[in-house]
Amino acid sequence: MTAGAPSPGSNIFEGMVDFFDAARESPPHRELSDLAWEFAAAGPAGPLLDVGCGAGVFLDKARASGRRAFGTDLAVGMVRRAHRHGHAAAASDVAALPFPNATFAVATAMLVLHLVPDAHAALAELARVLVPGGRLVVVTQGLTWDEPVARALSANRGYTGVSHEFVVGSARSGAAHRRFDPDGLSASFDEAGFTTMRVTAGLDGHVLVGAANRR
Ligand SMILES: C[S@@+](CC[C@H](N)C(=O)[O-])C[C@H]1O[C@@H](n2cnc3c(N)ncnc32)[C@H](O)[C@@H]1O
Repeated sequence: MTAGAPSPGSNIFEGMVDFFDAARESPPHRELSDLAWEFAAAGPAGPLLDVGCGAGVFLDKARASGRRAFGTDLAVGMVRRAHRHGHAAAASDVAALPFPNATFAVATAMLVLHLVPDAHAALAELARVLVPGGRLVVVTQGLTWDEPVARALSANRGYTGVSHEFVVGSARSGAAHRRFDPDGLSASFDEAGFTTMRVTAGLDGHVLVGAANRR
């Protein structure tokens, strides 16, 4: 872990375990995770790593599909919740993963990349632990995803409760961090050793889903 990086246990998501556990069943979260999972499921056979796994959204999907999977998250509360759901997971920063080179066939990162201080270092670390030809799938906020847009989307779709909080909260937190346009995400993949396969988007085009293959 790099000097100055938050240590496991210190991030604000420690207090959001119940919320993200509930959110993964909500329509907007499911829209994004289903979109992303199409690319992950089509990746090469072998184990999957989900970084910033939260309560285990992609770990659930991997288990349902019969793929072996491991989660990591900076928040130990998230890791404990993933354990409670029967998943293998450990506390770790995505920029310093505790795995040898070329361990995984597929890596997923949902709503995590914008939170890390150095997105390039995180992507390079994901490239390191993927096998050549391994598949990376990232869900991250687009440049147009901000709170007014999210509030309008939520109202248009009639979202309430967790669905409303998820879209508005993610837009609010994303605004304080790095956001990407499709070309920028593609360029970041390329710089970190990936070849972009496709960048698409969910939530009316505001949240990007990028898929790339490790070179
Ligand atoms: C917006 S939540 C998304 C959780 C989960 N992927 C989901 O979609 O339900 C972001 C997650 O990333 C984790 N996180 C934040 N910074 C991280 C880092 N540097 N390394 C690993 N996980 C991190 C947080 O603890 C949190 O669980």
